[in-house]
Amino acid sequence: MSGKGQNLYRQAKKLIPGGTQLLSKRPEFLLPELWPSYYSHAKGIEVHDLDGNTYLDMSHNGVGTCILGAADPDVNKAVHEAIDNGTMSTLNCPEEVELAELLVELHPWSDMVRFARCGGEAMAIATRIARASTGKDIIAFCGYHGWHDWYISANLADESTLDGHLLPGLSPAGVPRALKGTALPFKYNKLEELEKIVREQDGKLAAIIMEPIRSSEPEPGFLEGVRKIADKTGAVLIFDEVTSGFRVCAGGIHLQLGVNPDIVVFAKSISNGYPMAAIVGTEKVMNAAQDSFISSTYWTERVGTVAALATIKKFRDQKVNEHLIHIGTRIQEGWKKAAEATGLAIHVDGIPPLSHFTVKTDDPPAAHTFFVQSMLERGYLSGMVFYGTFAHTDKHVDDYLAAVTEVFADLTKALEDGTLTAKLKGPTIHTGFHRLS
Ligand SMILES: Cc1ncc(COP(=O)(O)O)c(C=O)c1O
Repeated sequence: MSGKGQNLYRQAKKLIPGGTQLLSKRPEFLLPELWPSYYSHAKGIEVHDLDGNTYLDMSHNGVGTCILGAADPDVNKAVHEAIDNGTMSTLNCPEEVELAELLVELHPWSDMVRFARCGGEAMAIATRIARASTGKDIIAFCGYHGWHDWYISANLADESTLDGHLLPGLSPAGVPRALKGTALPFKYNKLEELEKIVREQDGKLAAIIMEPIRSSEPEPGFLEGVRKIADKTGAVLIFDEVTSGFRVCAGGIHLQLGVNPDIVVFAKSISNGYPMAAIVGTEKVMNAAQDSFISSTYWTERVGTVAALATIKKFRDQKVNEHLIHIGTRIQEGWKKAAEATGLAIHVDGIPPLSHFTVKTDDPPAAHTFFVQSMLERGYLSGMVFYGTFAHTDKHVDDYLAAVTEVFADLTKALEDGTLTAKLKGPTIHTGFHRLS
């Protein structure tokens, strides 16, 4: 089923520490020893592996990057033109001014924009700008924000600090111990935890960093309370919309939630698979970027910029958000219906464009492995998350949900008769941070 891909992955693990460049693309997180692992080409939601198998992507579609579907023709046309006109030059590409203007227009509270290429680095830039603008060091944060020192330093105090925010078991090896105590976590919807940090830090807070929403809705008054605390202490409020941006509306989801940050960060959802990131903020805060050295050669290349312009314009003109919400809502309802019909206990959450479920059982990794294995056999790249794209159709959803219902029924039976482990064709999925051997 996945011969060439797994052979190549075995070779990769000898040449590339950890096997892949992104933890969540490790085959061990999806279907150890059986995941196809590599693709030869992808179009829309069709993915072709190295053995000539074709799958439909009902999983995260490039970790949430391909909101229009893989190799979108309109975005690719803009990129091809940029390639033909030169993607790099001694001069700057004019499109970056157009993109800055578009992002400010979509976020009327903002005035200025800086660009980068990845989410984690864009969050590191936003953090630097906040520290430069306030002259303070301490960061209060909630959720996941990338791999950089400012963030992973939270695990220096206690290696389990980030367990609820990131993956359990993440070691901060290599992060300077001097950063201990500079990044302090609070939980989503727990205003009192943020208030405690503010009290204890006594005026030293540079920024409050969080996703405005991810798996759960904000409780009434939570985001407004965070905004008030930021204003009172003078901390910069940074919304990380690397994943939530451009899913439910053209721009950040905060536009719908009615609370504005001082900086919002976008990355993977703005450019349909081409690297691009934007740090969008008020003039007052963003101008501090001039007081610090924040500069990189490839932040000036042209492909990411034109891909973002083409993606955002198509998103806005074709109301892609409405499609993502429609498809995601159908998936969430379909999972629940299939579970009810087959007697499987599951938990579903997430905003519709970023949906996920878990099986409620004593051994979730085994149940999840069985699900991925059985869906792969039916021609689906499928896990516990579903990130919708403009390329998903109602027919895709109908066929997928029919397959899910079959697999849920098999899973329920295997759980009932105790044969689940025996039915797994390889090891169970990894759930925490592991060194690969
Ligand atoms: C909320 C959030 N912030 C930051 C990041 C890091 O982005 P990247 O993987 O592009 O560095 C991610 C990636 O998943 C994310 O979901």
